[in-house]
Amino acid sequence: MKNISKILILSAMALALGACSNIERSRNLDDAKVSGNTLAQQVCSTCHGLNGQSINPTFPSLAAQSKDYLSAEMTEFKEHSRRDPAAQAFMWGIARNFTDKQIAELSEYFSKQASPVNKAYSDPALLPVGKKIFEEGALENGVPGCNGCHGVNAEGLGPIPRLAGQHADYLYKQLMIFGSDYDEVEAKHEDELERGHGAVMEIMAHGLTNQQKLAVATYLQSLK
Ligand code: HEC
Ligand code: HEC
Repeated sequence: MKNISKILILSAMALALGACSNIERSRNLDDAKVSGNTLAQQVCSTCHGLNGQSINPTFPSLAAQSKDYLSAEMTEFKEHSRRDPAAQAFMWGIARNFTDKQIAELSEYFSKQASPVNKAYSDPALLPVGKKIFEEGALENGVPGCNGCHGVNAEGLGPIPRLAGQHADYLYKQLMIFGSDYDEVEAKHEDELERGHGAVMEIMAHGLTNQQKLAVATYLQSLK
């Protein structure tokens, strides 16, 4: 009797250990055999939220994002051509050994998730201002409407990202980065790749005041 319970305890422990090491293995970012779906659920969800619905604006929502855009960004993180500080701190290490198959599976997974739920916005007075910029741009500064590229409902298309329902703080931060003198940072990386990320958005970000950036970011967060 004593022996049987010992065996039971030991086998329960072995099972528990086995389960643990399975989780360990499934979280191994350097293992090409781990599927995109497993990575999405075991690794990405920690920051990007369950089903790609993030609750913290440091981490963009990935849910319903365009598949081509997701693949492009993962490749840019892996190759270091997207190199703003948050990308370097968080995503370079995570993406470093992604295989093409994992990138394709992860992009497929997140693009299929339900659209992010739209979040409350801080200042309703910004909404009409942001809507006008989204639809008409700021032509006096050479900025066209955003809908021409990002889609009439900011739903994104191909390599152009979905912006609807994304965190305003994240969108604002990206616009600040596209508009910043990032070229100085760039100059220190001449040996690396040409700036790929954000090249199109530079004109837009330079032509908007910070208040206009905030207004359009707030409007975009309010979209379903
Ligand atoms: C430790 C936190 C963390 C984890 C885990 C994480 N990410 Fe990220 N991810 C970030 C941050 C922060 C950013 C925003 C980077 C920036 O601001 O440039 C980001 C950005 C991204 C973007 C770009 C989104 C956009 O709208 O441009 C993609 C795609 C992405 N992550 C995919 C993934 C995938 C796939 C995984 C899992 C394999 C993952 N991330 C795991 C923190 C994380
Ligand atoms: C000529 C096409 C074009 C227009 C017009 C345009 N965008 Fe973009 N936008 C892009 C592309 C392409 C990207 C992806 C970044 C890259 O790959 O360089 C992007 C990326 C972004 C991002 C980053 C999203 C993320 O998840 O990181 C934001 C924010 C953004 N655009 C906002 C705007 C706003 C606001 C406007 C209107 C004032 C606008 N865009 C007009 C093409 C455009």
